[in-house]
Amino acid sequence: MESVQQLLERLATGVIRQSIGADGAANVRPCGNPKFGDYQINGLLPIAKARGENPRPLADKVAAALASALADIAEPPTVAGAGFINVRLKPAFVGSLLPRVLGDPRLGVPAASPARTIVIDYSAPNIAKQLHVGHLRSTIIGDSIARTLEFLGHKVISDNHIGDWGTQFGFLLRSKSELGEYLGTSAIHLSTIEQIYRKNVAEAEKDPAARDEAKAELVKLQAGDPEATRIWKALCDRTMEAINEIYTRLGVRPFDHTLGESFYHPRLAGVVAELKTRGLAEDSEGAVCVFFRDVPQLKDKPFLIQKSDGAFLYPTTDLATVQYRVETWKPGEIIYVTDSRQKLHFEQLFTTARRWDYPDLKLAHVTFGSVLGEDNKPIKTRSGEPIRLEELLDEGEKRAQAIVDANYADLPEATRREIARVVGIGAVKYADLSQNRVNDYVFSWPKMLAMQGNTAPYLQYAYVRIRSIFRKGEEPGQGVRGRGQEVVTLADAAEFDLAKFILRFPEAIELATEDYRPNFICSYLYDLAGKFSVFYERCPVLKADEPARSSRLILCQLTAEVLRKGLDLLGIQTIEQM
Ligand code: ARG
Repeated sequence: MESVQQLLERLATGVIRQSIGADGAANVRPCGNPKFGDYQINGLLPIAKARGENPRPLADKVAAALASALADIAEPPTVAGAGFINVRLKPAFVGSLLPRVLGDPRLGVPAASPARTIVIDYSAPNIAKQLHVGHLRSTIIGDSIARTLEFLGHKVISDNHIGDWGTQFGFLLRSKSELGEYLGTSAIHLSTIEQIYRKNVAEAEKDPAARDEAKAELVKLQAGDPEATRIWKALCDRTMEAINEIYTRLGVRPFDHTLGESFYHPRLAGVVAELKTRGLAEDSEGAVCVFFRDVPQLKDKPFLIQKSDGAFLYPTTDLATVQYRVETWKPGEIIYVTDSRQKLHFEQLFTTARRWDYPDLKLAHVTFGSVLGEDNKPIKTRSGEPIRLEELLDEGEKRAQAIVDANYADLPEATRREIARVVGIGAVKYADLSQNRVNDYVFSWPKMLAMQGNTAPYLQYAYVRIRSIFRKGEEPGQGVRGRGQEVVTLADAAEFDLAKFILRFPEAIELATEDYRPNFICSYLYDLAGKFSVFYERCPVLKADEPARSSRLILCQLTAEVLRKGLDLLGIQTIEQM
């Protein structure tokens, strides 16, 4: 269904055309300060400017015409400042929309129009290495963006661009007999693979002969040597098994595709040749580079796509990947989620891709900062190693378990364990997603597990509390849907405030997708829970007389559904009991 903002935009744009003969958009935005109204029409200023007129009289005319056009929707609009028009919604209008939102599986969020095909590239860990805390951000930010775009009706294709073709395999294959034994017999733990890798890197640093051996192994693998290929394949399988376990624990949406770097290997020579033929890449001191001489910030930053020894690089693979994705899925957009250290790489990649065959493809690099320890430095273990994601999730569940055991000793153990799992994992994810992603943030267990404040446990608990109203007074799970009540009465200011805020869910989703920032969903849900608290303190629900009782039950039900949907878009589970 159309959102309130869209409805006002459509109606006000029509009124502007009729009343002052202008073609400009109304440009409706939520009011920054609720004192002035709910929405603000900002479109008169640019219109006045273009005409060289004073915006105030134009705004007065439009406001007068709006008073009758919006009579059923809003109080008579007022003109403020240089020529803004403030609109205050009427309770009866808001009340008439709520049952429709309740009946809408999208909870009032309009479908994207047009729907597009969007490829999203996130997580992308490297084979033979364990996931550490750094992989958390790409995985869950990407997952949330994918969920949200899909909710809007886009066709989302997630592709895990795993690093399965790097120099790490040369170092690993140098120990191939050791690896072969492990891989042949029992399941090898990733930490063992990592140790073997590190040992070889250390040896290669000290001993040039060891380095040459590693190089030779890599060349063999890349030339398709059967034994090297078999071990490589086993390493990939074992790593992905371990990584998939973590994805399951994190509750991220399964990837539609996992096409790692190795998949593109056969295309790389062709990509370099084509870019050279097209004059986009050139030989430079034996290597092949793309130069950006006309782009000021990239002027002296060439994009190296083939080394002088003939080897292809990360950029070459990414160029082949763009080509493959466009040919195969014909997307309108590709989104990449990586930490901000890869900014330059993606600037170069996007610039090259646009010059190549894809001038209309939207390419977005979604970056994020680091996770810091209490000392404000990137988070590490005591011995200075990066923290493994597995350990972090274990710890989250353990800490949540202690809280749940202390507070809900009467619940059966299995229930307590399930609550601890949902709360512990949810807390870790929410603490990350609620930050403006470009910033670093300090990882703090007490903060993220707090029952008060902008945390997952607070929202999960708010949800449970609302659901318990239904357990007390209503048939469980039935809610109030399908009662046929046409209009919700909103007599109390707290009811009206909550109701209007429920209708603003689409705006939060829009903000979250515009610049790929799940944190807008978090702040919206936090404010929603706050408004619900005020309402619930002031307005009895089950003890109220009709029609207030039914109306309030609808408000409860809608708040619960929006909380659950919002958390779901963040990839966070809710529980029915807590
Ligand atoms: N494997 C890379 C890393 O760990 C991330 C890959 C991101 N995606 C891409 N298409 N380059 O840094």
